[in-house]
Amino acid sequence: MRKSQALKLYLELEKNLESFASEIKKRGFIKFGEGSYKVTYSKNKLNYVIKLCSSVNDEFSHVPQLIKNFYIPPYFCDEQIVIQQKANTNKVIAQRAYFKIKQKIGIPACESLDINCRNCGEINKKPVVFDFCELRGFDEVDERCLENMKKKDLTRRRS
Ligand SMILES: Nc1ncnc2c1ncn2[C@@H]1O[C@H](COP(=O)(O)OP(=O)(O)O)[C@@H](O)[C@H]1O
Ligand SMILES: [Mg+2]
Repeated sequence: MRKSQALKLYLELEKNLESFASEIKKRGFIKFGEGSYKVTYSKNKLNYVIKLCSSVNDEFSHVPQLIKNFYIPPYFCDEQIVIQQKANTNKVIAQRAYFKIKQKIGIPACESLDINCRNCGEINKKPVVFDFCELRGFDEVDERCLENMKKKDLTRRRS
């Protein structure tokens, strides 16, 4: 099943989450990961995941500038499900990805955006973030971190 077909199925089932969950399981999707809010399903050979949300999904909230280069924008997303490209989340790889992102945006930004190794992975060797959440005081951190990031890039280019 291609991701467009998964979306079609969801719409045909009139967005009934229970029916959708049971239909994708019938098609061989298995639980692939689980966070505090979402259960992620996929199949070995597929290059995408389907996430079912246990509470209202707020993933449409704007993506902070700071992580624009890392975030995988969902192919489809509403208040119940997310269809998104699959990242490699093998433990070592997720840690490596998180480390690279942390180096780039800094620890305060990671903390205020809930970026940790459970929300990071790699696609084609590139570190990515597939989930984030704006925690307290983010706006202020965003400004400061962007500034720092620009400065770092400048020093790197000079040296
Ligand atoms: N795009 C993805 N590629 C690979 N694994 C994913 C992807 N999105 C989520 N997962 C897996 O599912 C888990 C839960 O998804 P996540 O989007 O982090 O939801 P939550 O809001 O519950 O934290 C992740 O920790 C990860 O193991
Ligand atoms: Mg998560």
